[in-house]
Amino acid sequence: MTNTERTSVLITGGNKGLGLEAARRLGELGWTIFLGSRDEDRGRAAAGKLAAGGANVVLVPLDVTSDESVAAAERLVREHTDRLDVLINNAGAPGRASRPRRRRPRRSTRSTTPTCTGRSGSRTPSCRCCGPRSIRGS
Ligand SMILES: NC(=O)c1ccc[n+]([C@@H]2O[C@H](COP(=O)([O-])OP(=O)(O)OC[C@H]3O[C@@H](n4cnc5c(N)ncnc54)[C@H](OP(=O)(O)O)[C@@H]3O)[C@@H](O)[C@H]2O)c1
Repeated sequence: MTNTERTSVLITGGNKGLGLEAARRLGELGWTIFLGSRDEDRGRAAAGKLAAGGANVVLVPLDVTSDESVAAAERLVREHTDRLDVLINNAGAPGRASRPRRRRPRRSTRSTTPTCTGRSGSRTPSCRCCGPRSIRGS
């Protein structure tokens, strides 16, 4: 059984990327690392590197999309400890970064119509106050 004085963490997808880096850093802090990896060979290689750096690491074959695999992983963790302190559910795909869509420049809302000053002689045809008037009854 693993030393229960240590904080323990299970990291899914821990064989590379952010998961592996988290494992490395927490291993440096003295945590017990349960290193989840869906591919056993990749997991073994990663666990080997962590162990070489002094981490206390246990490889846990784990594909998070398989209930069977999750159940087997749980059994394996229980063989080592009766207490798991932290779960880092990191497994996943980073996805593709996409550029934000370029926004079309907004059409100016400023009127091009000259401002009505209300003074005679400066009447503007589209102005509400002095626009075209009906010439009824003239
Ligand atoms: N990197 C970013 O900028 C970024 C940004 C936002 C969110 N994230 C999230 O952070 C997490 C890690 O990202 P990352 O960049 O380190 O990705 P990564 O380098 O591709 O690593 C992903 C890890 O998840 C594992 N994995 C994938 N599907 C799995 C499954 N069904 N069961 C178990 N393990 C599985 C991979 O295993 P294999 O080696 O077998 O493929 C790998 O170990 C992902 O969940 C990602 O969505 C990342």
